[in-house]
Amino acid sequence: MPNLPLYDLPERPRRNRKSPGVRALVRETALSPSDLIYPLFLHGGAGDEPIDSMPGCTRWSLDGLVKEAGEAHALGVPAVVLFPKIDDALKSPRGDEVANPDGLIPQAIRALKQTHPDLIVTTDVALDPYSSDGHDGIVEDGEILNDETIQVLATQACVQADAGADIIAPSDMMDGRIGALRAALDSAGHPGVSLMSYTAKYASAFYGPFRGALDSAPKAGDKKTYQMDPANIREALREASLDEGEGADILMVKPALAYLDIILRLRESTALPIAAYQVSGEYLMIKAASKDGWVDEKNVALEALTGIKRAGADMILTYFAKDAAKWLA
Ligand code: PBG
Repeated sequence: MPNLPLYDLPERPRRNRKSPGVRALVRETALSPSDLIYPLFLHGGAGDEPIDSMPGCTRWSLDGLVKEAGEAHALGVPAVVLFPKIDDALKSPRGDEVANPDGLIPQAIRALKQTHPDLIVTTDVALDPYSSDGHDGIVEDGEILNDETIQVLATQACVQADAGADIIAPSDMMDGRIGALRAALDSAGHPGVSLMSYTAKYASAFYGPFRGALDSAPKAGDKKTYQMDPANIREALREASLDEGEGADILMVKPALAYLDIILRLRESTALPIAAYQVSGEYLMIKAASKDGWVDEKNVALEALTGIKRAGADMILTYFAKDAAKWLA
């Protein structure tokens, strides 16, 4: 070994990592419970049921829902988003149950707003939980009818707004639905109800466990004529500018972890807030890997959520919301 002189370092970035205090001062992204939206499943029956396809998640009764939402809210989570498991007997080709003002979702909205008036209640607009075909739109001869679907979705949104929803989140990916919903809500006397658009929702295999939770998988075909091709970026930018022009208040990217570049590109191309949805498959990969101690659940989950926020998400829909709020306390 030759006796080399020590290299004279021009820069020492490690000085900014030398202690917890310095690291706290230079930290660029702070994840907080107030960034989180908690997706909750509910059913019309009595009792709370564990969900086989989503270990760690529950299909709540109305009472259980109100209690669980209240606990998350008390931990600093500002918002929930509701997904109903609809009885088979109430499903139909056109999803008519969405128009029922006393349906499961309107009942849940009223119960939540009555008990927790400051909790932000977000609702899903799409037909799949209500459709006997398991599609987000109306199916005729194997085709999804775009314009007929958005008429039904507009009714669904107005029923939810009438019941007291704060934010309406269409997850269906039909063309023109943001403009149609905005117009319908405004003319029904709900100019203050927000629209969180699933702007860049990809046709993803990460949704599998969610469809098990609601028994909402398509009976035939797939969702690729309405959800986006995972290979595309420019298409997301086009959807974003359409949604913005049609009056969306918040743009969403979904899934999150495999689409961080999309979150960043939307962040750079719009002044609107960006939401990201850490979906069922993303959640369960962490759950499954941590179950036998292969990874550490808390640290991996918080790292994934921090990465989603760092990419540019202002808010994150995550099944970890309540746990994360506890971990961050
Ligand atoms: C359907 C809907 C889906 C999710 C939210 N709304 C599934 C799908 O598009 O088939 C997925 C959420 C998740 O996987 O956590 N409108």
